[in-house]
Formats: sequence, structure tokens, C-alpha cells
Amino acid sequence: MKRIVSGITPSGDGSLHIGNYLGAVRQFSDLARENECFLFIADLHALTTVQQKEQFQKNVETLILNELALLGDLTNITFYRQSDIPLHTELQTILNNVTPLGLLKRAHAYKDKLQKDVMEEDINLGLFNYPILMAADILMYNADLVPVGKDQKQHIEITRDIAERFNKTYKTNIFKLPEAYIPREVAVILGTDGKRKMSKSLGNIISIFDDEEVIKKQVMGCFTDPTRAHTSDPGHIEGNMVFTYLDFFGEPEKVSELKEQYKAGKVADVEVKEYLFDSLIGTFAPARKRYQELKANPAKVKEILTKGSAKARAIASQTMAKVRNAVGITNQYSIGQAVGGSIAIDDFARVEMRVGKVGAAENVEKSEKLIRLHVDFGEIGKRIILTGVRGYGYTPDDFTGKQFFFVVNLEPRKMMGEESQGMIIAVDGLELPFGQHGTKKPIFVSAKDLPVGAKIR
Ligand code: TRP
Repeated sequence: MKRIVSGITPSGDGSLHIGNYLGAVRQFSDLARENECFLFIADLHALTTVQQKEQFQKNVETLILNELALLGDLTNITFYRQSDIPLHTELQTILNNVTPLGLLKRAHAYKDKLQKDVMEEDINLGLFNYPILMAADILMYNADLVPVGKDQKQHIEITRDIAERFNKTYKTNIFKLPEAYIPREVAVILGTDGKRKMSKSLGNIISIFDDEEVIKKQVMGCFTDPTRAHTSDPGHIEGNMVFTYLDFFGEPEKVSELKEQYKAGKVADVEVKEYLFDSLIGTFAPARKRYQELKANPAKVKEILTKGSAKARAIASQTMAKVRNAVGITNQYSIGQAVGGSIAIDDFARVEMRVGKVGAAENVEKSEKLIRLHVDFGEIGKRIILTGVRGYGYTPDDFTGKQFFFVVNLEPRKMMGEESQGMIIAVDGLELPFGQHGTKKPIFVSAKDLPVGAKIR
């Protein structure tokens, strides 16, 4: 499993079209099948261009819904909003100091802006600093791979450069150098005009979440074959946008049949377009349904973001504890903000602890450490919880029939191919005489006499 990090900027209007889907979302879903993915809405990055409050809010809301609806399954994906983890900006501030001006002056986004009508003096520093915030986004999570479009490749190079400079300056290896991941097969998806990259501002898109009538109109407006005046004229497939899209969204057999008919002048443009429309609606039906459901349920969306940001923050605070240490922000007067890789107070406040009664308990066969606990939590039901303490001399009998405290709102964690749906609470016991050096035997605190399922915090 590799660690994948990617951000999406809510510029434009925040809505995704089939070009975004084919060029980015689809790859991300594929990667998420076998990798650990972090995907965030880069809302702070969008502030460089979107400076009207209502539009900004709307863009971000729209993009959140669009992404969630298209992704559907969030297994392996931690989804959050950049601004929900202010540590990104702290890291940016620190990275500012190892980033030479020249590196930023070579950035394409900045150079492009200069070439347009903008005076250097008028370029906002958010745009100029954009690559440093992006480096912070990536380095924070020790990304192996960053899936991006070609236009972003340079930003990954800048990120690597900044990471190297930091590591060298502070003689550390905190930051891993990430690789850009640009799948070769992802051709730029042209718009319905057949000429330019699909883009909302060019009015050549096919939307995913608009009303069917809107999508129908966009499909009917697709560039096809200008040499063809009548259905009976032999048609061309090459450069014909309807067939370009059908290659992705149609049923392969049906598409090749249509291609043959088209070349032989046996099928009308409008018929092929109808088929494209049906294929699109079919393909995106589940996503369109999810979109409506999420839109009608803001609490659910908030819950997803809360979960995602808690997970992201847990990692980000570990990175930042190391970074603060490395640069010397921590000293003898530090008041203990996530020092030494501990979790932030915000995260601790989210821990839900309950009394659980262990029914059966047994050793996990393939493991030398794990004991499997079948725990009853009353109102919230039963859970399987694993604990790796056989090495300390514990046996299943030490747990059977007894009550302990458990953390019950953790992401399930895989251990030896099994999921542990929570964690039993222990305190450090005495140093074992012949144990591993520095390892203390965990002692399980009894919750005898407390009601099963009771929420302790
Ligand atoms: N700059 C990226 C884009 O415009 C968005 C982005 C911000 C990003 N931070 C990132 C992408 C970190 C990958 C990793 O597409």
C-alpha cells in the first residue's frame, strides 16, 4: 500500500464535468482500491482567485457534494477540507523559510500570470506562495504518490525541492520526497467543441449532476463530423466527440457496431447522440442519486468531514510535532502542544469510551500476540476487539466474563487480516523483569459493577 495525497481546488464553480471525472476522479477511485488515500478540498488555495464570499462558500459546498457523490465508496479514502486542518498553514509558514525566491519565480502559474495583463506588483502573494502551501499539503502526510494533471507536475518538483532543503537545513529526514503520478493513458479530455480541453469557462462541457435536459442539450451540441451532411454520407469516427465519449461510457460491443454503421452512412448523428445520452445517464445514475441524498442530508456530509479531518489531523499533528522539534520551536517552556507525537487535545475530546462486557475470548490462531474479545456494549451492540498482549502472559481467561473500558469510535483497524472494532484501555504496569527493555506490562482496568454500554466520556 502506498500513501496517496491529492487536493482539488474549488475554483470555477465547484461542479465536476465528465472531463474531470475521466481525467481525475476515476483514477483516484482506482488508486483507492489498493492504496491509502488522502483527498482534500483545497479551499485555501482557491482564495487566490475566488474572492467573493458567497461564491466561495457555494463552490466549496458544491465540490464537496460532487466529489463525495462520484467517489461513493470511501474505503481507504480520508476525505477532508484543507482549512479544517490549520496545521497546513503552520507548515507553510515554516517551509517559507527554506524556499528561495527563485524557485517560486520559476513556477509556471506565476509566470503565466505575469504574461497576461498583470503587473508583477499586483500579483497577490497567495498565488506566488501557492506552491509552498501545496508542498505543505503533501509533505504533511508523507505522501508516496501525488496524482495530478500535467500542469501540476512542476509543483511536485518544487515540493521535492522544498522537502530536500528542509531535511538538509535541519539535518533530518522528516520529509519523504513524493513522486508525481500522472497516468499515461489519461489523455486530455477535449470539450464538446472537439478543439479545446473541456472546461466550464469555455462552455464545452458535459455535466454530471445537472438536470437531464441540460445534459441532453450538451450532448446534442457535440462536435461530430463536419463533412457529413446527410445520414447516408459515410461518417468519420476520428475526432468525433460523440464517439470519443462513447469509448468511455458506451457498451464496447454496441459502440463498435455503431461505429461500423456510422462509417457506412447507416445511422444518424442524433441516434448516436441519444445513445451517448442514455449511456451517460446510466453510468452516473448511482452518483446522481448519492448527490441528491447527500444534498438533502447536511448532517451526513458534516459527519464524513468530521471523521476525515480527525484522521488527517491525527497524522498532521504527528508530523508537526516532529517539525516543531526539528526547527527548535519546542524548548523547555513549551506548553505541550502535540509534543512528541501525542494527539492534539481536539482529538482526545473526540474519544468515546464505554463499558464493555467480554463474552467469549480466544487466541487468534495465526498470531502469537493477539487475543480476540467478543465484547457486548449494550445499546450500541456487540463488537470484536483485538488486543496484542499474549506476550505479557495474558490468556483469554483473563478477559472472559469480565468488564473493561473500551474506546469505541475508532476507525476499524486491520490486524492479521481481521478487523478490530475498537480498543481496550490499559494503563502501564511495572517493568517486566525479563521483558523487552522499556516495555511495561499493560494492566487492564476493571469496570466491574458499571452498567454495560455506559458511556464514560
Ligand atoms: N494545485 C492543485 C490543482 O490545482 C490542487 C492541490 C492543492 C493539490 N494542494 C495539492 C494537488 C496537493 C495535489 C496535492 O489541481
